[in-house]
Amino acid sequence: MYPAQGNGLLRAQISSKQRVDYPLTVDAFPPNTKPAPKLWFKPRDLLVSSAVPVYVSQRFFLEILMSKVDFYRSLVGQISGLTDGEPDLIANLSNVSALLNLSLDDLNWVGFYLLSNENELVLGPFQGKPACIRIPVGKGVCGTAVATGKTQRVADVHAFPGHIACDGASNSEIVLPVYSQGKIVAVLDIDSPLFNRFDEEDEVGLEQVVAALENFSWNR
Ligand code: SME
Repeated sequence: MYPAQGNGLLRAQISSKQRVDYPLTVDAFPPNTKPAPKLWFKPRDLLVSSAVPVYVSQRFFLEILMSKVDFYRSLVGQISGLTDGEPDLIANLSNVSALLNLSLDDLNWVGFYLLSNENELVLGPFQGKPACIRIPVGKGVCGTAVATGKTQRVADVHAFPGHIACDGASNSEIVLPVYSQGKIVAVLDIDSPLFNRFDEEDEVGLEQVVAALENFSWNR
């Protein structure tokens, strides 16, 4: 149930850990008229800005919002909101890892390894247990992501030759190279205690997340 006229907040549960409140303006309907079941809104605007008045059925909104595509679009919008105008790389990566940890379910580690020279990754901002500090390019899942230039989505880390176990709780992992100006500058590493935690939609969505980091100040 929602009012035929008025302002309010729509509370959306976007993961088991995170809720978002969106302001709602419901004023398009004459009093005592039931809103039509199909309503009009702009998902992109809605998901990246909390200031956009929307006309929406709550059920429809939640169905839409619960899709992974919109979930990741929302994350990218939140990353822009957190980092736009801030030039400090470490501050921005810290907030992105905190946001990912808050937003994604079933993780035990999420963060960045930065390419310090062409042969070595060094631990950057993260959330989770203390982790290995240096990873040679070509080693482990992270080093393989750099060597191949491709996302490594690993359903069972124990079956990945050379996997580096920083946290014994990890059973699956996804590592995405972060590109800036055509070159790899870092990797985003996400570990889960669940086997096969990351599906193809997560991979596509997280590739949009790392693409949103391209214009950070990587040349410190
Ligand atoms: N498992 C990674 C090492 C980093 S930790 O998971 C944080 C790897 O094999 O490269």
